[in-house]
Amino acid sequence: MKNIIGIAISVLILAGCYRDNEETLYPSTGTCDVSNVTYQQTVAPALQQYGCTSCHGGSAPSGNISLTSYDAVRIVALNGKLYGSINHSAGYSPMPKGGNKMNACTINKIKAWVDAGAVN
Ligand code: HEC
Repeated sequence: MKNIIGIAISVLILAGCYRDNEETLYPSTGTCDVSNVTYQQTVAPALQQYGCTSCHGGSAPSGNISLTSYDAVRIVALNGKLYGSINHSAGYSPMPKGGNKMNACTINKIKAWVDAGAVN
């Protein structure tokens, strides 16, 4: 009986450790697929989700930068300002202004998208 309880406790402890490790090794942001990122599927929804388009849209977009169309986003993607601002790189205005930085996976996806030529 003692042994069975001992085994049961060991199993519970091991199971607990296993779950801890799994969470540490693969947190929800740990697996980030940066392949085949497109403007339509990933970049545009992220710009919307993080509130970028609320300032950078309409007839008088902030900083004279519109982020509501592919052609406009492509310009700041290729001149380095998009990645510089979302990554909070030195020399760029950190974005989203007054908001939380984009999560690391989203930033990595956008970087991969820019590096691959910013396809639509
Ligand atoms: C609250 C309004 C606001 C939000 C939200 C916002 N921006 Fe901006 N953004 C500005 C303003 C204003 C400027 C002009 C520069 C400055 O004042 O910092 C700017 C400048 C920029 C620039 C030019 C940066 C540079 O250094 O030349 C880029 C690129 C940019 N924003 C992208 C974004 C992206 C991407 C998001 C979302 C992650 C975002 N912005 C969210 C207001 C905003």
